[in-house]
Amino acid sequence: MELTAATAADAPDMAAVHAQAFDKPWDEADFDALLDGGSGVFGFVVRGEDPAGVLVCRTVAGEAEILTVGVAPWARRRGVGQALMTAALGVARQAGAQAVFLEVDVGNSGAVALYERLGFHRAGLRRGYYDRGAAGRADALVMRLDLTSGPD
Ligand SMILES: CC(C)(COP(=O)(O)OP(=O)(O)OC[C@H]1O[C@@H](n2cnc3c(N)ncnc32)[C@H](O)[C@@H]1OP(=O)(O)O)[C@@H](O)C(=O)NCCC(=O)NCCS
Repeated sequence: MELTAATAADAPDMAAVHAQAFDKPWDEADFDALLDGGSGVFGFVVRGEDPAGVLVCRTVAGEAEILTVGVAPWARRRGVGQALMTAALGVARQAGAQAVFLEVDVGNSGAVALYERLGFHRAGLRRGYYDRGAAGRADALVMRLDLTSGPD
């Protein structure tokens, strides 16, 4: 597996991974628009024989936000998600971010476990944040990592 910084040229592969990881995936145009340079947005792709994982992050005003992270089912539990997150935290720190935020479905115990392992703490709850269609609405956990206390 190889992790590389993403450009707009990676949009097709990123969309292909996203479609495997999420019920409401971002399409190629979404990734292309985010990664076309500027606006403090950066991303990473992990590839094995096929595209395996994606992450997009935005830094703004001393904070960073993980906009999305997803790993194709076939590539899970092999460290891809953690490698993507670790790479993003490094860039955020270098960019001068003092904290990193993300939102995650409270019921997504695997993702929450990954984030807690990286040092994220529960910082708040957004009730009914996700529309799960027939399953109703789900709450989002807001998680925060302090980057001012040295590398994790
Ligand atoms: C969440 C997700 C990104 C994790 O990616 P991954 O590559 O499988 O994660 P890693 O292999 O790097 O896991 C690192 C650690 O995180 C924790 N973890 C990850 N997935 C887990 C799961 N399903 N259950 C419990 N712990 C989990 C474990 O501590 C794991 O270490 P271990 O495998 O040695 O036990 C992936 O499952 C995914 O894409 N899910 C669907 C999309 C999604 O939910 N994205 C996050 C939305 S906020």
